[in-house]
Amino acid sequence: MSDMNISYDEKTRIFKLDTARTSYLIGIVDDEGFIGHVYYGKIISDSSASYLMRTGEAPFVPSQNSRDRSSFFDAFPMEFPSCNTGDYRESAIELLDARGHNGVEIVYQAHRILKGKPGLSGLPATFGGETECMTLEIDGMDKVLGLKVTLRYSIFEDVDVVARSVSVKNMSEESFFLTRLMSASIDMDQEDYRLLTLHGSWARERHMESREIGCGKTSVGSTRGESSHQEHPFMALVSETAAQERGSVYGFHFIYSGNFIAQVERTQFDSLRVQMGIHPKNFCYQVKPGEVFQAPEVILTYSDEGLGGMSRTLHDLYRNHLIRSPYKDKKRPILINNWEATYFNFNTEKLLDIAREARKAGIEMLVMDDGWFGRRNDDNTSLGDWKVNEEKLKGGLKPLVDQVNRIGLKFGIWFEPEMVSPDSDLYRTHPDWAIAIPGRTPCRSRNQFVLDLTRREVLEYVYNSVAEVLHSANIEYVKWDMNRQLTDLGSLYLGRENQGELSHRYVLAVYELQERLIKEFPDLLLENCSGGGARFDPGMLYYSPQIWCSDDTDAIERLVIQEGTALIYPLSAIGAHVSDCPNHTVGRSTPFSTRGNVALAGTFGYELDITKISEEDKAQIPEQVALYHRYNDLVREGDYYRIASYRQNHFYDCWAVVSKDKKEALVTFVQVLRRPNHHSRMIKLKGLNPEMRYKVCEGTNPDEGVGCVYYGDTLMNAGIPMEEMWGDCQSRLIFLAAEGSGV
Ligand code: GLA
Repeated sequence: MSDMNISYDEKTRIFKLDTARTSYLIGIVDDEGFIGHVYYGKIISDSSASYLMRTGEAPFVPSQNSRDRSSFFDAFPMEFPSCNTGDYRESAIELLDARGHNGVEIVYQAHRILKGKPGLSGLPATFGGETECMTLEIDGMDKVLGLKVTLRYSIFEDVDVVARSVSVKNMSEESFFLTRLMSASIDMDQEDYRLLTLHGSWARERHMESREIGCGKTSVGSTRGESSHQEHPFMALVSETAAQERGSVYGFHFIYSGNFIAQVERTQFDSLRVQMGIHPKNFCYQVKPGEVFQAPEVILTYSDEGLGGMSRTLHDLYRNHLIRSPYKDKKRPILINNWEATYFNFNTEKLLDIAREARKAGIEMLVMDDGWFGRRNDDNTSLGDWKVNEEKLKGGLKPLVDQVNRIGLKFGIWFEPEMVSPDSDLYRTHPDWAIAIPGRTPCRSRNQFVLDLTRREVLEYVYNSVAEVLHSANIEYVKWDMNRQLTDLGSLYLGRENQGELSHRYVLAVYELQERLIKEFPDLLLENCSGGGARFDPGMLYYSPQIWCSDDTDAIERLVIQEGTALIYPLSAIGAHVSDCPNHTVGRSTPFSTRGNVALAGTFGYELDITKISEEDKAQIPEQVALYHRYNDLVREGDYYRIASYRQNHFYDCWAVVSKDKKEALVTFVQVLRRPNHHSRMIKLKGLNPEMRYKVCEGTNPDEGVGCVYYGDTLMNAGIPMEEMWGDCQSRLIFLAAEGSGV
């Protein structure tokens, strides 16, 4: 029998969506047809639980107590809260109608229960076939405005997730302007929830932050035109009593790469209104008669197995129902990127020297980063002029790529297609192609402007520039970068009434560009990037199976960044490289082995001048390459368990990946600070089969190393000793193989 089901009880007018372990209930109340939020959480059996809406308690629904309609609106748990008709909490929708009014009230009109999951036109979204997903569509109507809202909920057979989105159709004769449209809104009681978000900055992305939910509104968001370094389109409500592997956690994650808001409002009645959607700032979208506006998707997940349960659900969802790349289930070629090796100072010979040494060490692909085009010898010039700089690359790109291929490496290349340097032929020819407000000098950032991708000719130019380079040689990987955020929101293409559409249209244009790219070059390995990890979001994962996590490649800084990232993203998506020391961002020196062990919890690669590093470090590369080949299938496909957090204990970090059949596990332990005069630490493992006996080994060969055999319950309940290592920033990889598993 299937674990997922969507039912509708005609009598109680309750919709019930069940996944294997969670239930989501929506109710239609009163003759007027308000759409109420009934329940979301751990699975419940009653499909007619309309009592949960408490409509029998005062304030009664308007049909029973119309003199206090406002009290009802002020308190009732709404599924898609209206605006300016009595509910003072945050609305899910706001607009300006043809007469300049902003009043919306949505009531139930019809519904459909479908097999499978329809796509969202022009937007990234989770997907699944007819046996994998079911979808409920509820149409609501504002008859005064002639506005139809369709609330969409999809559930999955194999993951405890509800994917929600909303579309709005103008059924009237006149345009209106949407100024707020939340993709998801939920009203629930505040029990003991705290708000967990991911906060950061350049080189410091996705640090976990937990706070109390005070009365009033608490929000995080981005108005920078991308999901941003600073805040992340994610939030979780975490019960105070929850821990890594137990307790209630609600996760909300936005599949979108532009401006967003994630907000919790704690009300006078101690309830919470939780919302996520496109940030309303600078958002004003004209919807003409007959047109539909589609909002992006929000992923909702509930776990009663703590944060770990949420992480594993999201990892599975993204690996199985969001990432489409042919590389999704494959080992990615181990790359060496020349950015931290040479910055802008390279030529064909230098790259070939790197390639030759890399090949000897077992590295599989050379990636040429920024600086290969126009006159780009620093970051002040040439973005937009995507023509090879033949002073650096004599004879052009093809001879270089051919030689790299002959050496035995694949070849990859860096682009920053969305940008233009003021000092470029492109800008000199088309100054009006940059985003700017007429009469104002646009704000520069890294000495560059953003191209107005809403303009068809600009989009075509950008696409053709990239495609032409890719056709010119055997290029198998692209790093698509975006190194500044949007300001001066003005488009010379969009009309007066459409300027408020720029930020969203920009994101749609990026999606269109990348969709075209992966269609035309289906075997290309695409890695997204934005000044490190400023556009690390589920939206981009729909186009690229991996995203550069952060420009901070220091192994210790990465512990915290990768902990926050792995909280919601599979390790297979996390771009991680071994770089040189002292680290270029923080100046710290760490052992080469630790840099390798931390990068192995991501896509894995190198970002250093292999012709210059010490022989001792270089000698470790073939070992690390072997570790990657031995363990990457497990890291990419397994279940992730967080065992200890350096962020919290300030001494050590530890995580494990356990295969789905529980026959293999890889534990990474990093001792950041050595404690003097200290005994070994017992590390209690997680996720093993208590009844299986595991051989505990170190290195790539299960027959080497510790070699002891213990039951899973011993390893999880009593733990394994981690002896104090000599020096700071030391690390160990422990491999567990179930006895008799043939591993
Ligand atoms: C960004 C990226 C880096 C590198 C530089 C090149 O900062 O995150 O990895 O590609 O741009 O300018």
